[in-house]
Amino acid sequence: MKKITIGLLGFGTVGCGVASILINNRYDINTRTNTDLSIKKALVRNLLKERPYCEGIQLSDNPDDIIKDPDIDIVVEVMGGIEPARSLILAALNNGKNVVTANKDLLAVHGYELFATAEENGRDLYFEASVAGGVPIISAIRQSFTANKISSLIGIINGTTNYILSAMTDQGRDFSDVLLEAQEMGYAEADPTSDVEGLDAARKLAILSSLAFNTRVTFNDVFSEGISKVSPADIKYAEELGCVIKLLAIAKNQDDGIEARVHPALLPKEHPLATVNGVYNAIFVVGDAVGETMFYGKGAGSLPTGSAVVSDIVEIVRNMTAGSEGSLNCNCYRNYPIKSADSFTTGYYIRLKVKDEPRVFATLALFFAEAGISFNSIIQKPRSNKNAEIVLVTHPCKEGQLRQALDSLNSYSKLDKIYNVIRLETNEI
Ligand code: NAP
Ligand code: HSE
Repeated sequence: MKKITIGLLGFGTVGCGVASILINNRYDINTRTNTDLSIKKALVRNLLKERPYCEGIQLSDNPDDIIKDPDIDIVVEVMGGIEPARSLILAALNNGKNVVTANKDLLAVHGYELFATAEENGRDLYFEASVAGGVPIISAIRQSFTANKISSLIGIINGTTNYILSAMTDQGRDFSDVLLEAQEMGYAEADPTSDVEGLDAARKLAILSSLAFNTRVTFNDVFSEGISKVSPADIKYAEELGCVIKLLAIAKNQDDGIEARVHPALLPKEHPLATVNGVYNAIFVVGDAVGETMFYGKGAGSLPTGSAVVSDIVEIVRNMTAGSEGSLNCNCYRNYPIKSADSFTTGYYIRLKVKDEPRVFATLALFFAEAGISFNSIIQKPRSNKNAEIVLVTHPCKEGQLRQALDSLNSYSKLDKIYNVIRLETNEI
C-alpha cells in the first residue's frame, strides 16, 4: 500500500475530529483508497495542552516543521484566522503540497489568490468543511450540479445561531446562556461575534455563491445582519404570526446581478427550513435541470466537520493516485454585477411603540402608503401607560421603500420607539 502522510496546521476542535476519524475508521478509509493514510505532525500554539487522539503525532509550534517536511503530502489547515493561515497555505502549495482547509474567513476574502496559487502549482485546494460542517454542499455544487444553471440558494448555514434561536424559541432560554453552551460544544468561532453578527454565514455564502454562479463573490459583497437584536418578544410575535425566526443566507442569480444577503428572517412554519433546529444546517439549491433540492446535516462540531475534512483528504488521495491534482480549483469564469441592498425585495416585520391616541394608526398607515407599501397583517396589544405596542407586517417591497416609510415614522411626534425591523421570507424560493 502506498503511504500518504498528512500534516495538520492546528489541532483544536476540528483537528481532533480529523485525527479521531482517521484512527477509528482507519481500516475502511485505507481500504477504500488503497493507501496507508496517517498524520505525522501537527502545528499547535501550546505544546503542553492535553489533547486526545495525538498518540504518534509529533506536535510542533514551528510551521516550517510541517510545510517544509518532504514526507508530508497533504497539509490540512484547521487553525483558523487570516494570518498566518494564508501565508502557510500559500507556502505549502508552493512547496508542492496539496491542501485541505476549513477556513471560510480566509477563502471568502483571499480565495482568488489561494486558488490561483494552487493552479500554478498543479495542486489541489479542497474546502468542503468551510461551509455547513458535515453537509456535502461544496462537492454537490462543484460536481453533482455541474450540468445545471443554479438560480438560487437559501439556507441556514450557521450552526451556532441556529442553536441559539432554536433554544430561545423552544425552551424560552436566554441568549447569552445558550451562546455559552454553543461555545462549550465547539460550535462557535474563536470570536463568537462572527457567528452572532452574521459574518460567518456571510463568508460561507460568499463561497457558495461564487461556486454556484461561477462568478467571484467575496465577503464584502454579501449584505449581513446578525441576530443580536432578536428578542424573546420578537420570537413570541413571530409565533403569533405563524412563523419562526431564523438566520437565513440567501443568494440569487437574477437578470440584474447577484443578490447575496444574510439576515434574521421570519419564516412561515410550513417552510421546510422552519423545522431545521439546533446545530443543524440546511440548504436549498435550485438548478434549471435538477429543480429544487435540499441538503441537511450538522453544520458544526468536531466530528461532522472532521468528516468533511477527511472526505477532502480522500478525494485528494484519489487525485494523487490518478495523477489529476489541480483539476478542480477555481471556476469563476463569469463576471456578474453584485446587487445593492436597496434593490432587495422582501416583506418586513416592524415592532414599535406609539401613543395610543386617535389618528395615530391612520398616520402610520399613511406613511407606509406614501412609500407604496401595503400591509400583510397587523397586531396591536392592549394599551399600557397610554402607549400601544404595534406589529406591522408588510407585503414584499424594496428596501428603499421601507427606508422612506421608516424615515417618516422616525420624525413622527407620536412615535415612542421602533424596537425592531426584521425581514420576512415567504415560501417562494
Ligand atoms: P480551535 O478549536 O480554536 O483550534 C485551532 C487550532 O489551531 C488549535 O490547535 C490552536 O493551537 C492552533 N492554532 C491557532 N493559531 C495558531 C498559531 N498562530 N500557531 C500555531 N497554532 C495555532 O478552532 P476550530 O474550531 O478547530 O476551527 C478551526 C477552523 O475550522 C477555523 O477556520 C473554523 O472557522 C473552521 N471550522 C470550524 C468548525 C467547528 O465546528 N468548530 C466547523 C467548520 C469550520 P492550540 O490548541 O495550542 O491553541
Ligand atoms: N461557527 C460555525 C457555525 C462553525 O456555528 O456554524 C461551522 O462553520
